[in-house]
Amino acid sequence: MAILPILETPDPRLRLISTPVEAFDDDLRTLIADMLETMYDAPGIGLAAIQIGVPKRVLVIDLQEPAEEGGEPVRNPRVFINPEIFDPSAGTTLYNEGCLSVPDQYADVERPTTVRARWQDEYGAPQEAELDGLLATCLQHEMDHLEGVLFIDHLSRLKREMVLKKLEKARRARAA
Ligand code: NI
Repeated sequence: MAILPILETPDPRLRLISTPVEAFDDDLRTLIADMLETMYDAPGIGLAAIQIGVPKRVLVIDLQEPAEEGGEPVRNPRVFINPEIFDPSAGTTLYNEGCLSVPDQYADVERPTTVRARWQDEYGAPQEAELDGLLATCLQHEMDHLEGVLFIDHLSRLKREMVLKKLEKARRARAA
């Protein structure tokens, strides 16, 4: 397992369209282990393979929610390979999203509250579930990465430019 560097905007690789996984082999499972380790180290709650430079339709998510209210966060890694979503709800939810590829910047994004999802696990077995809450939001955010889309693309041009300006400013401050 390895912690890998995370690509940051405006790296053009983040705009690639990821291709479906066909081989459910040890290389895939190594990629997943590396993605999880990289996500936990960042730390983040979701990561798409393209964020570490691999244009494959692989996502990892772990909301790391406490088992009981006020308790310690518990790890619950989820892997989504070749995910698809359908039947999005008409109702939407606004969530203050962030992204490891747009570090330390946050903005409200509106997405369907619930979706049905189909995907494969790391052995290729088909899975299907209705998702809601943060998991639904997170899956939709991560699936955007597979199409080369970042959460800032959902913002108005003015808001997006503000976020990118703040990101540049933070980078300059770090470099100084
Ligand atoms: Ni992201």
